[in-house]
Amino acid sequence: MTDNQDRITIRRPDDWHVHLRDGAMLAAVAHFTARQFARAIVMPNLSPPVTSAASAAAYRDRIIAALPEGADFTPLMTCYLTDDADADDIASGHAAGIYTAAKLYPANATTNSAHGVTDVTHIMPVLERMQTIGMPLLVHGEVTDGEIDIFDREAVFIDRVLEKLIRDLPGLKIVFEHITTEQAVQFVDSAGPNIGATITPHHLHINRNAMFAGGIRPHAYCLPVAKRERHRLALRKAATSGSASYFLGTDSAPHEIAAKQSACGCAGIFNAPYALESYAAVFAEENALARLEGFASEHGPDFYGLPLNEGRVTLERIDGSIPDQIESSGSTLVPFHAGSALPWRLAAD
Ligand code: NCD
Ligand code: ZN
Repeated sequence: MTDNQDRITIRRPDDWHVHLRDGAMLAAVAHFTARQFARAIVMPNLSPPVTSAASAAAYRDRIIAALPEGADFTPLMTCYLTDDADADDIASGHAAGIYTAAKLYPANATTNSAHGVTDVTHIMPVLERMQTIGMPLLVHGEVTDGEIDIFDREAVFIDRVLEKLIRDLPGLKIVFEHITTEQAVQFVDSAGPNIGATITPHHLHINRNAMFAGGIRPHAYCLPVAKRERHRLALRKAATSGSASYFLGTDSAPHEIAAKQSACGCAGIFNAPYALESYAAVFAEENALARLEGFASEHGPDFYGLPLNEGRVTLERIDGSIPDQIESSGSTLVPFHAGSALPWRLAAD
């Protein structure tokens, strides 16, 4: 059964996980996110990564400078944790309002994560301080051990790292980012209110077959990699359940077309231009449009202890085709759903 509503107006949403990049790519993509969302948690995996409050403040200025005139959008900055992250620096960046959260990339787990944390035990003093000051930890939840099958890396991370982390630091707010498995849903459902999770539009739409449909499909490749159908179904159920533990995080991760369509293509799906439309399609298919607002606009701010947005956005049921490619500020990008259609459109402001 499908919701048969033709219009839905919700409180303005936020994106709790996005890659806005820097330089020319930032100029090419920032306006897409700013059109759809009031705020976004901006990932710090630049090259070099954002590891100091000064570099985060400078990056925030570059993001604001890249926005269209009059855009009403607030970037929320994150700190990239390394083995030698300093608790005092991070706490003072948070107190100064520069850092909203800190991001844990296991070393070499994904794009620009070579400087990531080699073992969580190395950053325990930082995590203890974050627990004390109420600063959320955002986790890319995959082990990097080459012996572990790529499709199992999230589930193994739960067993090896997360279970212990929540026992040792029960007061630490943790966002399990871009979850992809039923094991992650079970973990979040059974954890307390300090554990949240973001879910991307692509993990709600595609399973791992999408990467191999009639040939190799680099634009369906991201990390964590899409899993089997039963995992996608578990994610759809979680996202549309109304549970306050789950919130919107696109993980929009643009790469130039040539970097995707290569012998060793980059991981990342660029979904920013039609992210809300993509989520709305899922919620409508699940007959859960009434729960879209909680997922997109309420659960995230509540978890972070931030105010809800005051504005409203409207989605209309209008079939719209998604272009094969987007040219923007000299970059060529292939958006998620390229060449197909979505039944919703964000109404013009
Ligand atoms: C992200 C990127 O390209 O920065 N890629 C991705 O596939 N999601 C990194 C990340 O979030 O893992
Ligand atoms: Zn990401």
